[in-house]
This record gives sequence, C-alpha cells and structure tokens, in this order.
Amino acid sequence: MASNASKDPGSEPTAESQVAKIFEWRRGFNATHLIDIGVRLGIFKAIADIPGTTPGQVADSLGLHAPYVETWCTTAYSFGLLEGEEDRKFRLAPFIDDVLAKNGHPRYLGGYVHLGTEFATEDFRYCLDAFRSGAAVPFQGRSEEFAEAVAAGTFGLQVLSARKLLPELPGLKEKLDAGGALLEVGCGTGRHLLQLTKAFPQARCIGVDIDPTGMKAAREAIENAGVADRVDLVAGEVGTAVPEASVDAVVMIEVLHEISPGIRQEVIDGCYRALRPDGWFLIVDETYPSTLAESRQLEFLFPIQTGFEELTWGNVLPTREEQEQLLRSAGFKGEISRSIIGEGFTVLSAQK
Ligand SMILES: C[S@@+](CC[C@H](N)C(=O)[O-])C[C@H]1O[C@@H](n2cnc3c(N)ncnc32)[C@H](O)[C@@H]1O
Repeated sequence: MASNASKDPGSEPTAESQVAKIFEWRRGFNATHLIDIGVRLGIFKAIADIPGTTPGQVADSLGLHAPYVETWCTTAYSFGLLEGEEDRKFRLAPFIDDVLAKNGHPRYLGGYVHLGTEFATEDFRYCLDAFRSGAAVPFQGRSEEFAEAVAAGTFGLQVLSARKLLPELPGLKEKLDAGGALLEVGCGTGRHLLQLTKAFPQARCIGVDIDPTGMKAAREAIENAGVADRVDLVAGEVGTAVPEASVDAVVMIEVLHEISPGIRQEVIDGCYRALRPDGWFLIVDETYPSTLAESRQLEFLFPIQTGFEELTWGNVLPTREEQEQLLRSAGFKGEISRSIIGEGFTVLSAQK
C-alpha cells in the first residue's frame, strides 16, 4: 500500500520515477480525451458492431477523416483499449464494449469521462480565480446538460441500488410489493426513480430535490415513461416536503456530500422523520479519509479525486465519523452497515 512505500527500499522514489509518474498522468489526460472522442463520434460502437474492422472502414461508416481515425486506433491500441494485428484490423479489448460502447450498461463509463472533459475542465479553468476568492459555483441551476452528465455518471450506481441494494434490505421488498412507498432525496434528473418504478412496480415513489433544473428534466422523463401516476416529485427540503412516517425507505445516491455541511443534520433528520417504524435508510456516497495516511489507501483514492474535482462546487465530503454522527444524531440506534463497492463508493444502511 502507498502509505508503506517509504519502508520498502525497492519503492523509494527516484527522480526518474517521479518524472515517469507525471508523464503517466499526462498520458491519462490524453487517454481521457481519446475516450471521449471515441464515445461521442461512435468509434467504440462502430468497432464493437464489426470486430476486425479497419480504421478506413470505421472512417467511411461514420463520415470521419480517415488519417485521424488511423491515429486514434493506433493510440487506443497502445492504451490497451483496442486489440488488433499488424493487418490493422481492430476489435475492442476485453470488457471495453460494456464500459465504453454500451450506453445504459451498469459498467458504462462514457458519461463519467465526459463529465471530466466537458465540465471538470471548465471548473479547473475557473480554479485560479476561485483559489484566490474562495468562490464556488454550486451544482444547482447550472444547466440541463450538466445535470444529465452527472446522472449519466452515476447510472451504474442507480441500477445497482434498484436491482440489488434496496431489494436485499430485509423485509423491504415485501412492503414495497404490497404498495409501500419509497423516497429518493436528491433525485436529480429522475433516472434512478425510473429504475425504482421498474424494480418495484407496486410501490409509490417520491423524488425530492432542491435543483429546479434537475427537477424539470425529472418531470419530463417521468411523464415520457408513463409513470407519472405513481411518482410524486416535490421541490424543496425533505423536512418540509415529505410528511412524517410516510415511507418505507429513503435512498440517497451521491447526495450526502452535495448537501451543504450547515444543513446536513437537518436533512438527515428529515429523512429519519419521513421513515415509518422499521423503515430503511440507504446511502450510497463517498467517504473522505479521516487521516492523512488514509488518503493514500486504495479505498479513498476515488473520494480524494471527487473532493478535489468538486471543490469549487462547494462540496465537502464527509468522513466516516461524520457520516455515523449524522445518523446517530438523527435517531438511528441499531447497526449502521457499511461496505465499499466499485472504485470506492460507500454503501451505508440503517433501520429506524
Ligand atoms: C450528484 S447529484 C446526484 C443526483 C442523482 N441522485 C443521481 O444519482 O444522478 C446530487 C443531487 O443532490 C441534490 N441535493 C443537494 N442538496 C440537496 C438537499 N438539501 N435536498 C435535496 N437534494 C439535494 C442536488 O441538487 C443534486 O441533484
């Protein structure tokens, strides 16, 4: 583990290894853009559809400039995203079809990459001023494209929550199948609500958010899906928007760290109050390291990255101690279950 690196003479940094590290990250910057270009122009999909295709054929089928597609393919091969032979017939490397060619697959990362190339890039440009002034541009009210890009980035978590995490909470599925109610706090553009209506067709779903841009997209998505009769959307804070003891579960996906620290306890208290007795609270979020040493440990690398990337959104990631304090103060007395999934997302659950 990185925190022990200095004890192992073999891994003692050298000038060369430090230089190589920077070159590797700079290469990662190019890889990020290469992926985004390939996703947006449909190159991954074209190669997935016809494995063993040549760059010239890809260029022809997509109406692209052939020499650029040639270099894209050579570079993608070098990065391990494509496989191919010297005859320059390329196919996707193993699993890259799910990860980059199938929008809607739980492992799809095209949306997350685009969030970086499009929006994080803008934020980093603005960082020089922000570091001087301390200013932040919050999540809410940015643009519909931004809200959609965030939702695309968390799609895998939404599928996991609806198909696995919620159904596995003891006794919950039975209640929802018998006409119970489910509340999502921070529902954003409503994609997870749509997953919930499919996973629990007998349940009533309620979505709450303070972002008018996301709520507008959510309203449209829910109407288009024909499920408006069983989904309620309420703008505002959960404490005032949802009646006491009215739902069997509350779920928040990538929301806790987005809530201003000053009102976090109030929001978690509101979630607790909205739950019926024995109701479940499920949080999928990121946990900030509690110590400096932890910040080099594998499970915290992704939260560290988010903490930096969302710094000028005004987001402050909670530590494990802060998460547990919030739940205890709200009134949860039993076990707080905690696990780490994927790149470093924390799944917390507690029963009222
Ligand atoms: C990263 S987005 C996640 C949206 C959605 N859960 C998803 O997975 O796509 C965080 C959401 O939390 C919402 N949010 C932040 N503070 C909130 C609060 N106090 N009450 C309700 N929603 C809040 C934001 O407006 C935003 O829509």
